[in-house]
Amino acid sequence: MTMIRAAITGVGGYVPEDVLDNFELSKMVDTSDDWIMQRIGIKERRILKEKGKATSDLGAKAVEQLFEKTGTTPDEIDFLICPTITSDMAFPATANLIAHKVGIKNVFNFDISAACSGFLFALETACRFIESGGYKKIVVVGADMMSSITDYTDRTTCPLFGDGAGAVLLEATNEDFGIIDRILSVDGSGEKYLHMKAGGSLKPPSHETIDSREHFVYQEGQAVFKVAVSNMADVSVEIMKRNNLSPDELTWLVPHQANMRIIEAVARRMNISKEQVMINIHKFGNTTAATIPLCLWDYEHMLKKGDNLILTAFGGGFTWGSIYLKWAYDGSKIY
Ligand code: UT7
Repeated sequence: MTMIRAAITGVGGYVPEDVLDNFELSKMVDTSDDWIMQRIGIKERRILKEKGKATSDLGAKAVEQLFEKTGTTPDEIDFLICPTITSDMAFPATANLIAHKVGIKNVFNFDISAACSGFLFALETACRFIESGGYKKIVVVGADMMSSITDYTDRTTCPLFGDGAGAVLLEATNEDFGIIDRILSVDGSGEKYLHMKAGGSLKPPSHETIDSREHFVYQEGQAVFKVAVSNMADVSVEIMKRNNLSPDELTWLVPHQANMRIIEAVARRMNISKEQVMINIHKFGNTTAATIPLCLWDYEHMLKKGDNLILTAFGGGFTWGSIYLKWAYDGSKIY
């Protein structure tokens, strides 16, 4: 029996128009363009400012573009998964709201909460559904409105994040392309270094939690930095080894865009050059579940059928992982 593989067959993306650059940020907190560029590598990020709009609106725009580019209609979709940590509401799932906005009906949709590794966890989940033979077309849309949980009085976190969404169509194929291998992991003890203190069942919203600014991202940056480099590099080197992939044979590393220094350190550990790494952190910042699909969106025109890609991420939880895939189409033909 021929093995069914799951391949990405299209990419859509969306970032809001409003730009928050380092100059603007330096008027809000005690920081500078120099510090942010040297320590993080972000020049600007996009912010969703329109009243009444939220993560599902970012996601819906990305999916609409995905449909347009791939000529897909909503009724062809088996289901939609949305990795996010900034859901519109505690419930229902943002995936449902996106599906409703783009016209996907009569299927089940769900969110995945794995912070910055959310896109990888969702892609693996969709991949296994497709490999089962029961599903043909699944949308994975990483979407986060990080500005809704960013404290713009805290200089240690507010330069990091931006808003955006990236969507991929995952389809069944009998060809030898698509997702080949994965290593995904979590370590719950990492929770103390990166989390949001209030708003969940542990600490429901109250005057006290609002006064103490507990509805924003809390991060111990240095501790997260060290584990991010070692864990992303370890799983990426391991996945190359077990698939006999030499550094030269890797076409693209698609890393989560949290910090330019993390990306460079991971690339060094993998023994690959900067030219093999997708980078758009300077213009979008860390959009959490959207960084990896937004990189694919930016670089799609350069991707060729058969390219070897490793996607890797690290995030709150801790969560991390690597996915190895063979790209399934010539991106230049899309334009
Ligand atoms: O995506 C999820 C996973 N998250 C990550 O991967 C993020 C990992 N962590 C990081 O990227 C980095 O740790 C940060 C960018 C968050 C911070 O960079 P750092 O090089 O680790 O800086 P630091 O926290 O060690 O702070 C160094 C100095 C401190 O001053 P003192 O105590 O040495 O006087 C900070 O107060 O830099 C200061 N500082 C700033 N200065 C100007 C911190 N933030 C800023 C700022 N502007 N925005």
